[in-house]
Amino acid sequence: MMLHVPGVLSAAEVASLRALIEAAPWEDGNATSGKQSRLAKRNRQLPEGSDAARDAGARVREAVTKSALFMAAALPHTVYPPLFNRYGGGETFGDHVDNALRFQRHQNVRIRTDLSATLFLSGPDAYDGGELVVEDTYGAHEVKLPAGDLILYPAASLHRVMPVTRGERVASFFWIQSLIRDDAQRTLLFDMDVAIQNLAQEVGLGAPAIVSLTGTYQNLLRMWAEL
Ligand code: NI
Repeated sequence: MMLHVPGVLSAAEVASLRALIEAAPWEDGNATSGKQSRLAKRNRQLPEGSDAARDAGARVREAVTKSALFMAAALPHTVYPPLFNRYGGGETFGDHVDNALRFQRHQNVRIRTDLSATLFLSGPDAYDGGELVVEDTYGAHEVKLPAGDLILYPAASLHRVMPVTRGERVASFFWIQSLIRDDAQRTLLFDMDVAIQNLAQEVGLGAPAIVSLTGTYQNLLRMWAEL
């Protein structure tokens, strides 16, 4: 499932985060790449483990955990410390699939990447190109969101970032190990959660059918969750 999560950061929070990361030193995006992604990747990133990356990453992590929509869709077990990248002057990241496992030695985090997330920190008017293109069985989906909005997509997807031909695209990106490893099961739980919330608006949270459906949701979660 691909999901647009709007308003993870307010305009003021985006501006403050941009000021924090833009004052810090950046490095070649290939500093942490494997041999294969080095062939496809041309961008810059905040050094993983730098003070700026840690502070800015903590803000992003706090913001996503406050988003009810993000939490319902991702059902996170562990959120990887967010990273930051920027593309300008034709920079791009060609077709690739993200690594299945990520180890962050600075904060001692080890995860299986079930979901990938990109949080846009530049508005769509600030640059040309730079669309995130995610392939799935329904075809290729182009994503270019307002600053402060996030896209969540399965980490198993083939994806790319189109060349940025004007201006600059700044974003945070990170991975999530979900309590629910399987994308189809996670999607079913999310759809059911949304339907229950909508129905509860009409009939009330205490209606017997809502209590029963909520129980079924919890029991599916119990059946499938991996802690
Ligand atoms: Ni990627």
